Amino acid sequence: MKKTAAKKQPKKAPARASHDTALPDAFRDFMLRDWRPKKARKIPLVKGAKNFHARRRALSERFPGEYLVIPTGHEKVRANDTFYRFRPGSDFYYLTGNVEPDCVLVLEPTGKKGHKDVLFVEPNTGRSDETFFADRNKGELWVGPRMGVPESEAHYGVDACLGLDELPDYLAKTKGAPVRVLRGFSEGVEKAVKSKRKDDEELATVLAEMRLIKDDLEVRELQKAVDSTKRGFEDIIERLKIAKSEREIEGVFNLRARMEGNDVGYGTIAAAGANACILHWTRNDAKVKAGDLVLIDAGVEAETLYTADVTRVLPVSGKFSKEQREVYELVLEANLAAIAAVKPGNDFLDPHRAAMRVLAEGLERMGILEDAEEALQEDKQYYRRYTLHNTSHMLGLDVHDCAKARQEAYRYGQLQPGMVLTIEPGLYFQVDDLTVPAKYRGIGVRIEDDVLVTARGCRVLTRDIPKGVEEVEAWMEEVWARQN
Ligand code: GLY
Ligand code: MN
Repeated sequence: MKKTAAKKQPKKAPARASHDTALPDAFRDFMLRDWRPKKARKIPLVKGAKNFHARRRALSERFPGEYLVIPTGHEKVRANDTFYRFRPGSDFYYLTGNVEPDCVLVLEPTGKKGHKDVLFVEPNTGRSDETFFADRNKGELWVGPRMGVPESEAHYGVDACLGLDELPDYLAKTKGAPVRVLRGFSEGVEKAVKSKRKDDEELATVLAEMRLIKDDLEVRELQKAVDSTKRGFEDIIERLKIAKSEREIEGVFNLRARMEGNDVGYGTIAAAGANACILHWTRNDAKVKAGDLVLIDAGVEAETLYTADVTRVLPVSGKFSKEQREVYELVLEANLAAIAAVKPGNDFLDPHRAAMRVLAEGLERMGILEDAEEALQEDKQYYRRYTLHNTSHMLGLDVHDCAKARQEAYRYGQLQPGMVLTIEPGLYFQVDDLTVPAKYRGIGVRIEDDVLVTARGCRVLTRDIPKGVEEVEAWMEEVWARQN
């Protein structure tokens, strides 16, 4: 073996664990040489580059003359030296399309108006130091290839890209200038900003309110997530023929999410029988029995991180019983009434009001509420014993999207074209609820659609996922027939 490669130490020694083996100099030298040089190639722009750029310009206009620092966050420890799969901060992703951990976007003010987009990424030293084979967290031979600084500058179409190792000095130099940091993603970045702080919450709020209105790319990606979710529900139907446990249902759905998207957008709820009366039943550790209804609340998160959020209730044996059907049809009526109330200019809460009226009146007909009008009164709200949650939330990169928007722009605001929200009324009759006739106890139903507000009304993105009683039964039959 010839000794040719110069010894070059990385700036910071790669992360080591006690079970890592030592690195003799001779071995390091051997590893650093005789690699075929990388071919120069044209780096393509990230898909949606125009949209990401337009979003950065819109944000820039809101904060003239100020530095805006937006970190994506870091990998989170799952156990000891293993991490959860990294998921970028939604605002950082919304502005860049970048999915690597640790990165930071800075909008650097250019005088009184305008900003320069500076993206900080992990440098890629190629084969020039030991990181590529010795760094278990970043090394190419450990976790796969990644872009470096010049490649990222070209790919993300930003004005400048710098290495993360330059970030502390860069932030220190902002001292004295107005700086806002998007908090909650990187303690290190927050500490490194020494400058006079502005109201950081306002940065989070502005981003959340920008994200209330989806652009064309976002709507297309949400539709993709919904379409994958439909296929995930069909996988579940197939599996129901033999499924013994809720875990199996979760598993087949999650497989579809990983096959077609990035992941699930939230923990899949697969609730058989009375577990459907527990809103976020993600334990999914119960058995599935013939005659049960199974409530599945699940969403595929697309590669672009937009998620669907869909709930369907399926009869395990393929047919609803009389009582199951009665409850189901009432929730369906509420779902349809709520969707009819989705149009520009209506209150965000109008669909909820419409759904709750339908449910309260139905509960009166079933003999569960004595008087729907009384139950609907602001100071009584008795119907809520059975409905438990709100009808809608915004949907997008986060399943509960835009949570930092001001109440007057979201909960007490009006619907506007481009908003995407869920419509998800439900009825939950607990097994031990003595106000409910015994025949209905243990039945839980939620029917959840994803809806885009359009210029005149709405488009139901989930319209192809059957939800009428007959449609659901026919859908299950059709999927089972395909299997044979
Ligand atoms: N998908 C669960 C929820 O909306 O809370
Ligand atoms: Mn939801």
